[in-house]
Amino acid sequence: MRKKLAAGNWKMNMTPEETGRFIEDLKPLVKDSNADVALMVPYVDIKTALDAAKDSNIEIGAQNMHFEESGAFTGEISPVMLKETGVKYVIIGHSERREYFAETDETVNKKVLKALEYDLIPIMCCGETLTQREQGITIDHIRKQIKIGLLNVSSDDIEKVVIAYEPIWAIGTGVTATSEQAQEVCAAIRDTLRELYGEKADNIRILYGGSVKGENASELFGMPDIDGGLVGGASLKLSFADIVNYDK
Ligand code: 13P
Repeated sequence: MRKKLAAGNWKMNMTPEETGRFIEDLKPLVKDSNADVALMVPYVDIKTALDAAKDSNIEIGAQNMHFEESGAFTGEISPVMLKETGVKYVIIGHSERREYFAETDETVNKKVLKALEYDLIPIMCCGETLTQREQGITIDHIRKQIKIGLLNVSSDDIEKVVIAYEPIWAIGTGVTATSEQAQEVCAAIRDTLRELYGEKADNIRILYGGSVKGENASELFGMPDIDGGLVGGASLKLSFADIVNYDK
């Protein structure tokens, strides 16, 4: 049985001071949740976030990492560094990284493999543009992202991976995919995972992301192949708790 995961992606928002205050305020609001709760915070907020979330059910992750352990990569953060901080998750291949920082399915794959090597849970993102959707190539595109992104991920490791389906046209736009649209693609992702990993596909969490809010979370998370959400804007407010508590 897959446990739901409500994961916030703060993107480039929140200072360390704001982080500490926010998590202190969020803790009591989500303490009885049935879903797992996580916040993917900027690197400089990680320590404060982990301290604030200690002894609570809120887990902390990062939003990116390099695939090398160390070296001349100015401005980058390595899996070794992340592991030592104590974060549990790391987002890999968010569409904003692909669009603005030239990440490809190949670099995503290297990062997923490295994250697993360091026992970090990769939240690997995929999603189509509006043009791809209008051209009717959404599923082909997503299958390619999944297959290349997971290349050489072993059958022993695959159940640790979380997939996030985030249609690019729904990110930060206020336009949410309908629950049927989101379910259709998440089911196609699970079919692809089944082709690659057999029945283990049924244990892999697939999140939906793109304008998730308190008002639409319960319908989206109620779909058979949607195991929670990756939430941007709405995770910056305490009403994120409504998404975490979608079933109450
Ligand atoms: P919004 O929830 O702001 O649309 O962002 C979604 C997202 O990109 C999460 O990673």
